[in-house]
Amino acid sequence: MCGIVGYIGKRDVAPLLLEGLQRLEYRGYDSAGVVITSPKSSGLKMVKAKGRVRDLEARIPKRFTGTTGIAHTRWATHGAPSDHNAHPHLDPENKVAVVHNGIVDNAAELRAKLEADGVVFASETDTEVLTHLIARSQAATLEEKVREALKVVEGTYGIAVLHADFNDRIVVARNGSPVVLGIGEKEMFVASDVAALVAHTRQVVTLDDGEMATLKADDFRTYTTSGASTTATPETVEWEAASYDMGGHDTYMHKEISEQPDAVDRVLRGRIDDRFSTVHLGGLNLDAREARTIRRIKILGCGTSYHAGMIGASLIEGMARIPADAEPASEFRYRNPVVDPDTLYVAVSQSGETYDVLAAVQELKRKGARVLGVVNVVGSAIAREADGGVYVHAGPEVCVVSTKCFTNTVVAFALLALHLGRIRDLSVTDGKRIIEGLRKLPEQIGEILKLEDEIKELAAAYAGAQSMMFIGRVRGYPVALEASLKLKEISYIHAEAYPASELKHGPLALIEPALPTVAIVPDDDLLEKNRAALEEIKARSGRILAVAHQEQEKADHTIVVPKNEDELDPILMGIPLQLFAYHTALAMGRDIDKPRNLAKSVTVE
Ligand code: F6R
Repeated sequence: MCGIVGYIGKRDVAPLLLEGLQRLEYRGYDSAGVVITSPKSSGLKMVKAKGRVRDLEARIPKRFTGTTGIAHTRWATHGAPSDHNAHPHLDPENKVAVVHNGIVDNAAELRAKLEADGVVFASETDTEVLTHLIARSQAATLEEKVREALKVVEGTYGIAVLHADFNDRIVVARNGSPVVLGIGEKEMFVASDVAALVAHTRQVVTLDDGEMATLKADDFRTYTTSGASTTATPETVEWEAASYDMGGHDTYMHKEISEQPDAVDRVLRGRIDDRFSTVHLGGLNLDAREARTIRRIKILGCGTSYHAGMIGASLIEGMARIPADAEPASEFRYRNPVVDPDTLYVAVSQSGETYDVLAAVQELKRKGARVLGVVNVVGSAIAREADGGVYVHAGPEVCVVSTKCFTNTVVAFALLALHLGRIRDLSVTDGKRIIEGLRKLPEQIGEILKLEDEIKELAAAYAGAQSMMFIGRVRGYPVALEASLKLKEISYIHAEAYPASELKHGPLALIEPALPTVAIVPDDDLLEKNRAALEEIKARSGRILAVAHQEQEKADHTIVVPKNEDELDPILMGIPLQLFAYHTALAMGRDIDKPRNLAKSVTVE
């Protein structure tokens, strides 16, 4: 949510920053801007534009050259998307430029004080207060000016600051929003995500909350917001630049759906222990004795990750026989929950940055709870804040809507459930059965992906619907929820998900020929009950698309998927519906990778 990128070195900076912004566009895409300077020039040159990075690019004048700069792509919070609300924000004397990801909570109060002092604001953003505070500081160095400004600011930020009088450096700071430094040869980079850096360097330093850094072309140093030096040892990014490219696909979403056999293979790799029919999860930090004392598991996540957590809860309850449930992290924090010492809390987030999840983790930790993370992005804020956890190893996910991360997260939960189950009461035989099922997943996902042409045809047939219903029972219900979310996010078709058992308690009133139902119908002990729901819909002339292990007589169409173990079937049943959402949105001409109003990594509340 909002992406920042910066460079200082010898190269022509504008093309570098624009390319960096393209890589970060998934974080927000309603306006963008860039400001540059060079050691020889005494001023700052800025261009901003409402719209996409390509709109900004179109506005860049011919002689827009420099060797130092910062840039931003925005997802609006305070102030509508517009040229003047786009970042960077400059002070009236054009000396200080700031780009910011996050929210200044006390912006209104600070703005009122500044306005009372005669400051005239050029935008409605919260960020502009930072610019004025830095510009008005009497401190001698840029670092001190920024520190002074941050002292009065409450909220979250990842910022980068340029100053015309100190143009040999970029000063950056982090509190709650990611800031990664890229360490090059006589050049330095900064960005919200390694995605914008890996084409230039894989040596990175991730700042901690409360940390700042000064970047010069041939040097960098890190220190706290109170000025004490910190040590920063660069780490090597695991992924190569090509992993962030589209790789021959038309969209990132299609690429990421197609990558799932490999992604699932990765989350399993090196973790299965055939000798004891269990799995090893190195980063869990939970020994067998502690695992036996857990009385409840509470899983917290948002959106798609919450849905993955719901499947996770049923896997844990089924295999480890520990009562488990999932709750939206965004709601949990505000109901002053009882934090129980015998409950294990699990925070699930593919980005590891989602503010609602991070804040829930921080609140839990403050109350003494033990929190594990199920996270994709290594070293992200939630991964660092948790006491231990499981990485889902899906690889970079660029499309705003999550697909492979969802699948891998559910597989990671299956591993956690198996691990806890084998410590508690799951038999060797059941452990083996689950392991065999897990091993089959990559190949079975490959088989489902081969159904794409058939699914594309079905999507074309359903693309005209105004609204769709998704149903499933028990394990199938979170699959229905996730499939309906995917469809609404990228096609903008209204979709609702219900437990199939709830139909007759109300939603059946909606059923008519114009409202198709997508039904999850696995071959398990609920098969007959699910079929009864299909009968109820058919009796009201509803159209039905089933995802099942065998053709369903009452359905108008059935997508037949391979059968795995009952526990693992939800992993497979979601995949054709990712393709269904994809092809429906494609048939409707939607911007699939960048759906309207959304952004990945929701770092604001
Ligand atoms: C939807 C989607 C979102 C995210 C949610 C939480 O396709 O991706 O619902 O799952 O914003 O994000 P993470 O998982 O990064 O915490």
